Amino acid sequence: MNDEFLTLEALRAFADRNRQAFESELKTLVEIPSVSSDPERKAEIRACAEAAADLFRRHGGKAQILETEGNPLILGKFDVDPSYPTITVYNHMDVQPANEPEWTTEPFAMEIQGDTYKGRGTTDDKGPALSAFFGALAAREGEVPINVHFLWELEEEIGSPSFLGGLQRHQELLGTDAIIVSDTVWITRGKPSTPAGLRGLQGFILTLEVASHDLHSGVVGGAARNPLTELMTAVAEMVDGPSGRIKIPHFYKEVVKPSRQELKEWAHSGFSVATFKKDHDIQSLRTDDPLKLMKRIWGRPTMEVHGVVGGYTGPGIKSAVPARAEVKLSCRLVPDMDGATTLGRIRKFLAKRHPDIQVHEEHGLAPFKGHVTGPYAQAVKEAYAFAFGAPCCFTREGGSIGAVKTMEDVLGCQVFFLGLSLPSHGYHAPNENYDWEQASGGMAAFAHYFQTVSGFKA
Ligand code: BES
Ligand code: MN
Ligand code: MN
Repeated sequence: MNDEFLTLEALRAFADRNRQAFESELKTLVEIPSVSSDPERKAEIRACAEAAADLFRRHGGKAQILETEGNPLILGKFDVDPSYPTITVYNHMDVQPANEPEWTTEPFAMEIQGDTYKGRGTTDDKGPALSAFFGALAAREGEVPINVHFLWELEEEIGSPSFLGGLQRHQELLGTDAIIVSDTVWITRGKPSTPAGLRGLQGFILTLEVASHDLHSGVVGGAARNPLTELMTAVAEMVDGPSGRIKIPHFYKEVVKPSRQELKEWAHSGFSVATFKKDHDIQSLRTDDPLKLMKRIWGRPTMEVHGVVGGYTGPGIKSAVPARAEVKLSCRLVPDMDGATTLGRIRKFLAKRHPDIQVHEEHGLAPFKGHVTGPYAQAVKEAYAFAFGAPCCFTREGGSIGAVKTMEDVLGCQVFFLGLSLPSHGYHAPNENYDWEQASGGMAAFAHYFQTVSGFKA
């Protein structure tokens, strides 16, 4: 080990020296529209896998594209010596669509505005992936005795449908001592946090059809059933709009309340309702009490309507009764809820009241309970404090990363989080962005993390 390359000063100098390289690599990745939900983007998904493999090779690593039933995985390796510990960094290279009208720059042409990088995927998750990557290059310069592997997924944003099969198929290549994921969000700038848990997700779609085509509401109205009205009734019976309270019997039965220790950490996390509103540009919330708000986003399940399809949506009114309608929904799940049990309760509830409504299952991800003690968790805290000069809290994330639980189950090791995104970076939002402060600090944090964990075991 070469300690003088690993001081904060040296790592800052490393980041500055590599800034142009970081920006040009990020630009290359962002400008490949690897939108996993779009079946028309299969060529871009493939191109992204190849660009990623090329990145590892150009920087002196080894890379393989691992095929799965769906989109491939990329495995990059910077091996030093098999007797050293091995850490695997997980990120995803697929992105959300970017067709919102509010974009002020081209979403798939990365624009650099001072210290800010704008474009789809800059913060979720290509920027953090590259920050970790350059952190590994810095650790290599400092001759840290560790093997760093990178596992990059291209199906995270669609619920990781092929990830389990892919891990099982390539398991012999994936041995590791621990996994570190960089795909989570801080409380706000200057306030690092690492999740002690993630919410899961269970999607579903309700459909109802009562005729073969739309009908005149004067001719049949009053007698004809209205599928939009019936679906809206069903939704209102399941969930109370203003409060968000879910009215399905036993829905909350398995919910584990956050512990007193967790609530104490949350209270000291620096979370502020005003900042939360500002970061997300939200006008009003269901509560303005900070602890209640944190419980709602991290510790409680939800039922959300994402979209309603049906009826006339052009200008003015068209006096028709729609023939069919559809509602897209999902529930965020918390430990110890289970997607199948939850969906079973929803089906039972609807079957009794609205037997004609069809319930179609969409993807499901289990909630995840993280690890807050032990040397690897401590190393995350130390890495943040070292690189950003600010203490980090264990909070939770309201979002979901399907790969996390799967990696623990299949690879038999623990997963930790060293996220670098900020709420104001706009995950999934128009004008998504990332910035140099998070990127350069992230490089130092990862380098320091690799240094710490290199001492854990051989
Ligand atoms: N990086 C996010 C997960 C996340 C969200 C972490 C919020 C921390 C805070 C991930 O890319 C994501 O968006 N996951 C999706 C998965 C879904 C589409 C299956 C999610 O949570 O909605
Ligand atoms: Mn992500
Ligand atoms: Mn995402």
